[in-house]
Amino acid sequence: MPEPMDAIPLSPRAVRVSPSSTAAFSDLAARLRRQGRDVISLAAGEPDFDTPAAVVEAAHRALDAGRTRYAPVRGIPELRRAVRRKLARDNALAYEDEAVLVTSGAKQAVALAVEVLAGPGDEVIVPAPYWVSYPEMVRLAGARPVIAAVGANGYKLDADALARALSPHTRALILNSPCNPTGALYSAEELRAIADVCADSGITVISDEIYEKIVFDGCHHSIAASTPRLYARTVVINGCSKAYAMTGWRIGYAAGPPHVISAMATLASQRTTSACTFSQAAAAFALENEPPDVARMRAAYRRRRDLMAGALSDMGITCSLPPATFYLLADIRHLLPAARGDTDIPDAHRFALELLEHAGVAVVPGEPFGAPGQLRLSFATSRDQIKIAMQRLAAFVRELR
Ligand SMILES: Cc1ncc(COP(=O)(O)O)c(C=O)c1O
Repeated sequence: MPEPMDAIPLSPRAVRVSPSSTAAFSDLAARLRRQGRDVISLAAGEPDFDTPAAVVEAAHRALDAGRTRYAPVRGIPELRRAVRRKLARDNALAYEDEAVLVTSGAKQAVALAVEVLAGPGDEVIVPAPYWVSYPEMVRLAGARPVIAAVGANGYKLDADALARALSPHTRALILNSPCNPTGALYSAEELRAIADVCADSGITVISDEIYEKIVFDGCHHSIAASTPRLYARTVVINGCSKAYAMTGWRIGYAAGPPHVISAMATLASQRTTSACTFSQAAAAFALENEPPDVARMRAAYRRRRDLMAGALSDMGITCSLPPATFYLLADIRHLLPAARGDTDIPDAHRFALELLEHAGVAVVPGEPFGAPGQLRLSFATSRDQIKIAMQRLAAFVRELR
């Protein structure tokens, strides 16, 4: 008699970790589409544009040159150089070569940074709303995520809230500016206030700056450059996924104190070896040449943001206009709890499921982002699709009781 297919027990860690809910809603939308349903997805966390042609050509050149073998764990020299030049040029941050690590996406860089900085008994502060993966990454490292509520100042953590979240066990703060899912962008002054608290209390900042190039109003600043005290206390993380529409190429990077970067590299060497070699060559090209497509995509996102925010406001749904990223948080608390036909809709999660099922619009509910009663809508999709999705959402809202 063969054993059942689920006979193998899983480790406690594997059982505890929650799957990414953004991926879950995107997958659900894709499954309905495969069944022939007409679904518009505002759930995905990636640009809808193709990777710039010049970057694709750089990858072709790398493949033609036979660059298909393992790369050094820390990344190919030309990409490490391009990263250093980019950080100096865009962020006024000077790093030596040993302060830079190339990773398989920014996601790996954040996970490695958390793992080398925090472990059992430690705490890592995560301002809410947050990117869904941060708390899970902290838990996977054996540490405890401490969720700090942001104020009414455009979804941003302020120095007082940070100070309240501190404890003798705090090891790090994960700061995400521009922020997924709120689109919040911290000013230089706001960063300085946070930086002072971090430096005074001796904690490290993991600064995830992956949306740096998608800023509409204001200007991106890295907290690492906000005060000289924080330069040695920050791990800066960035990558190519969002800026250059390169999500599938899986290239991210980290820069920071060399002993932290070395520890991250050692961990990576035992887990993944290097990031994809020919992707790295293309990423070096993108960073060195900043293709004009970046500005074109930014202008398109801005027009789409205005379209979506205007449509939401017309249907009485408030959202604060995001100054950056391609997401906005739509506040549906005034609609909840609701009912549609015989179905009760107590929360944003149910709202999103019903919206997908009955209106063919995929969005991500706010709960896993630490934003209950809200929906995350991505405007990384065409204006035509946004117009139809907003009409469907408005019709769905009108049917609620
Ligand atoms: C805030 C944030 N950081 C990191 C990532 C991961 O980026 P990458 O594709 O480089 O792993 C994402 C992707 O959605 C993100 O939203």
